[in-house]
Amino acid sequence: MGSDSAVIAGFHEAHPLRQRQGFTIFFTGLSGSGKSTIANALVIKLRESDTRQVTFLDGDIVRQKLSNELGFSKEHRDLNVLRIGCLASEITRNGGIAICAAIAPYADARRSVRELIAPLGCFVEVYVATPIEICEGRDQKGLYAKARAGLIKGFTGIDDPYEVPINPELNIDTTGLAPNLAVRQILTTLEKLGLIR
Ligand code: ADX
Repeated sequence: MGSDSAVIAGFHEAHPLRQRQGFTIFFTGLSGSGKSTIANALVIKLRESDTRQVTFLDGDIVRQKLSNELGFSKEHRDLNVLRIGCLASEITRNGGIAICAAIAPYADARRSVRELIAPLGCFVEVYVATPIEICEGRDQKGLYAKARAGLIKGFTGIDDPYEVPINPELNIDTTGLAPNLAVRQILTTLEKLGLIR
């Protein structure tokens, strides 16, 4: 057994419950950074390998189903992020795995979600740190072009802020990185935290 696996094995012995407790993975980053793509691949992987229920809370879908009335002001974004956090906290409390993906541009709202969840289970913040030039180059939804043309106001990264996470559990730049390799990095972090085997 290598020294890393010995450390991990030791951690499992010290934290046997963590593999049964709920936890939340919260992806934050710019539009087009790759949050949903990685999150989707991670959901598939965890559903194959873990007995806990995995729930995916994607910003776009939560906005359609639950936050239909919200726009993109700071107040509305914070409310959206807190609603996602509230759902994730209930999932975590009940022993499930919540995977969240939202731009979540404001540090104070992300901190509030962390504080809500941390007493109930682990909160793992993943900053998808893909540079804006790459996100804009992808422009899957054509929104960057619209924002540049002034057709959308207050677009994150163009004329609206994104506060970079200072201390995320993991930082991933998806430039030239296949989703399965990003997922590998996350699984390694979860193993180190004793959350999965
Ligand atoms: S958040 O700021 O409240 O966390 P969320 O992740 O739910 O945002 O939604 C972001 C998605 O909404 C983007 O991927 C994009 O498709 C769309 N969108 C529409 N208008 C904006 C805008 N002004 N800023 C950012 N994203 C926008």
